[in-house]
Amino acid sequence: MIEIRTVDQLHVDGSRVFYRVDYNVPLEGTTITDATRIEETLPTLRLLRERDATIVIASHLGRPKGSRNEKYSLKPMRAKLAELIGADVQWVDDCIGAQAEQKAAQLKTGQMLLLENLRFHPGEEDNDRDFARALQRLAPDAYVNDAFGASHRAHASIEALPLLYETDHTAGGLLLAREIEFLQKITNVSDRPFVALLGGAKIAGKIEPLEALVKQADTLLVGGGMANTFLAAKGINMGASLVDKESIEVAKRISSAKVVLPLDVVLEDGSVVEVSKGLTEKKKALDIGPRTIAKFSEVLKKARTIFWNGPMGMFEKKEFAAGTMAMARAVAEANAVTVVGGGESVEAVKESGYADRIGHISTGGGASLEFIAGAKLPGLEVLRAS
Ligand code: 3PG
Ligand code: MG
Repeated sequence: MIEIRTVDQLHVDGSRVFYRVDYNVPLEGTTITDATRIEETLPTLRLLRERDATIVIASHLGRPKGSRNEKYSLKPMRAKLAELIGADVQWVDDCIGAQAEQKAAQLKTGQMLLLENLRFHPGEEDNDRDFARALQRLAPDAYVNDAFGASHRAHASIEALPLLYETDHTAGGLLLAREIEFLQKITNVSDRPFVALLGGAKIAGKIEPLEALVKQADTLLVGGGMANTFLAAKGINMGASLVDKESIEVAKRISSAKVVLPLDVVLEDGSVVEVSKGLTEKKKALDIGPRTIAKFSEVLKKARTIFWNGPMGMFEKKEFAAGTMAMARAVAEANAVTVVGGGESVEAVKESGYADRIGHISTGGGASLEFIAGAKLPGLEVLRAS
């Protein structure tokens, strides 16, 4: 159990507040394809504005690896936020430095300033104290974190920065509090079977939570790119499919009777192939096949607790969306406590039209996975109510 300090207990009236969010939303070019992560910050922003705070908003986007890259600019998020909240959002081209400091200092009560991508500076991912100090200068009075999706990262704006403030000047926002409340329910699972449905591209970075989940869950249904790696670990030829080669050994270790893998997959040309036959050299698995959909759906139907993270295939292309959409439906129709986490799975659930039948839609992917697996998240630990 973790309890954190929350923004409603914080004295923010007239304060300059640093507000860390996770606006790392799915994009096509500069078009936001799912704004959930932005929408979910509106309650905290409204609360801060009602209490006459001035708000400096900061986020990362993508993985620009410590240098400026226009492709990862947060400018589209500025326009979206302004539209959603119905107020002007000021902008500065860099998240630290003289110009940012000047603009932050000129904010009037209730005004918001969005900073450019934190990850344009290496100090962010290095959890660098000097970088954190430069951020703090923009909003020296209080710190609020709603970036649940990034709270498993020991990065400067998540960990080093809040530690610079007095403890009772830091808190989680309303979104962070709600995430913890719901995810906690699934962490102490009493309603079984507990089924984890996992997909997405990679295993790397998810190894520890996967190992923990294998212990906690009754069944792990694995699809998407992640399944390719598990299948390759069984010696099946996956052709040109995405396989996380560095994680083959891990996949071997995790594989057990609890881990259920696809029986068939859909190839680039739309044909379906039985996994047991293997794929020929140039073939790529891009979705789970109909037998797999039936099998996974049957398991989900009997589940009483379900956690879903990661799509079953390249669902952004209509031809390869059937598996992911069928899972959205099966999760929605199950008579179970259901949680869906991760940018892409959330996008899929919304597209499927079943979103309002999911118990909790988490804004965190890796973060929700780690939380459920019992890991300590640096961003939450620093906000722990003693
Ligand atoms: C996410 O989308 O998973 C979060 O925003 C964290 O991003 P990261 O995996 O690049 O740290
Ligand atoms: Mg991620």
